[in-house]
Amino acid sequence: MSKKDGQPIRVALLGCGTVGSEVARLLTEQAGELAARAGAPVEIVGIAVRRPDKHPELPQDLLTSDAASLVVSENVDVIVELVGGIEPVREWLLAGLKAGKSVVTANKALLADHSAELFEAADASGVDLYFEASVAGAIPLLRPLRESLAGDRITRVMGIVNGTTNFILSAMDETGAGYSETLDEASRLGYAEADPTADVDGYDAASKAAILASLSFHTRVTASDVHREGIADVTASDISAARLLGRAVKLLAICERVRDDNGVESVSVRVHPVMIPLSHQLARVNGAFNAVYVEADAAGELMFYGQGAGGAPTASAVLGDLVAVARNMVGGGRGPRESAHAALPVRPMGQTPTRYHVSLDVADIAGVLAQVAQVFADHGVSIAAVRQRDRHSTASLVVITHLAPDAALQSTVDEIAKLDVVHEVVSVMRVEGED
Ligand code: NDP
Ligand code: HSE
Repeated sequence: MSKKDGQPIRVALLGCGTVGSEVARLLTEQAGELAARAGAPVEIVGIAVRRPDKHPELPQDLLTSDAASLVVSENVDVIVELVGGIEPVREWLLAGLKAGKSVVTANKALLADHSAELFEAADASGVDLYFEASVAGAIPLLRPLRESLAGDRITRVMGIVNGTTNFILSAMDETGAGYSETLDEASRLGYAEADPTADVDGYDAASKAAILASLSFHTRVTASDVHREGIADVTASDISAARLLGRAVKLLAICERVRDDNGVESVSVRVHPVMIPLSHQLARVNGAFNAVYVEADAAGELMFYGQGAGGAPTASAVLGDLVAVARNMVGGGRGPRESAHAALPVRPMGQTPTRYHVSLDVADIAGVLAQVAQVFADHGVSIAAVRQRDRHSTASLVVITHLAPDAALQSTVDEIAKLDVVHEVVSVMRVEGED
């Protein structure tokens, strides 16, 4: 749908919570400037919320609980979706796209699993689908991947993409704060998802990793393709073991283009806690901040950093998309479409090369180190470093491995745990940032 100069771009805002209320505020406060940048006034013509009676602060004549009717209204040009979750949002957006409305959304859960059908619907109607806010809040990251790096070959994307878990891990590390009190604080500050288990169990980061991998490797990757581990099992022992070794614990999303011995390419996408050296830039990213490294053949290494969650930062990304849609409507043309031409297979986690840190409490007797080392050797896992510290009748043994297939490392740890001389497996965590 194109617009003549001066005609307003009419926006249906779905959801007016943490992010939606900031989008509404900024759209009102910056109306003049946004109109100048977009080439036309951008006006909210309807706001759908679940409980209109709970929103006395909003213009009552715009409020509705009937999002399904609003998205197909003739008076709407663009849908800004800030409700979250999959159904009924998926149905609303498909109906809206079919009716010729462009869509701006921050909904990573929906995009991670349904971007293909949303893109198809957008293509069929010749409208836009933008979703910058769905990954890493305020940080301009998806546009660089989709547009600025479209001429390069991205090989790796690695970073902190969940503000809530980074906020919790930072607090546990810096102040020794408890897990649940910090999670409550993250919810109060508007960082956590409506159901915060999506954050702590890694689902939110896995959705974002799927979106990042799809864009980076021109391949459809869904959340179910992503190996996912959250932070619920990260203990104070893990964090102190990391500190002793000059490392920090972070929940990372890691998307890699990998090549096997026969030269066959695939993608590996995973989310799990890792230990990284304190000297690594990602170790110094704290609170709800996010940071993402991108490696590309010609560009080399790039780093993106900023606020990864919260109402106003996320609204900034939403408004950037809205101005892009408005410009397309005024000037003609469309934003980028889906690019999935590479269609690379997804490599299972078990075959993905990783490195492990294993911290053990072992009997302080002769031959223990040899027994433990033998298990690593039996599984073809090469040891990079060993540190041993004696206590009274036990000893603390820390082993860091070289890269090995993740399945081999897992079975090594399972077998070590069964050795009589091993009293306790204190901490097992993958290691990154030391290659
Ligand atoms: P909130 O829970 O704060 O707000 C959700 C809004 O959706 C509320 O206004 C709610 O109405 C409305 N809503 C819920 N169900 C319906 C329904 N059936 N019909 C109409 N409206 C409905 O969520 P957030 O603002 O935090 O998140 C919104 C989206 O943005 C999610 O996809 C989230 O993942 C994403 N996001 C969030 C970030 C953040 O930092 N919070 C950062 C990046 C992305 P009511 O007010 O009446 O309850
Ligand atoms: N719950 C998400 C986070 C919001 O903590 O990162 C931003 O996507």
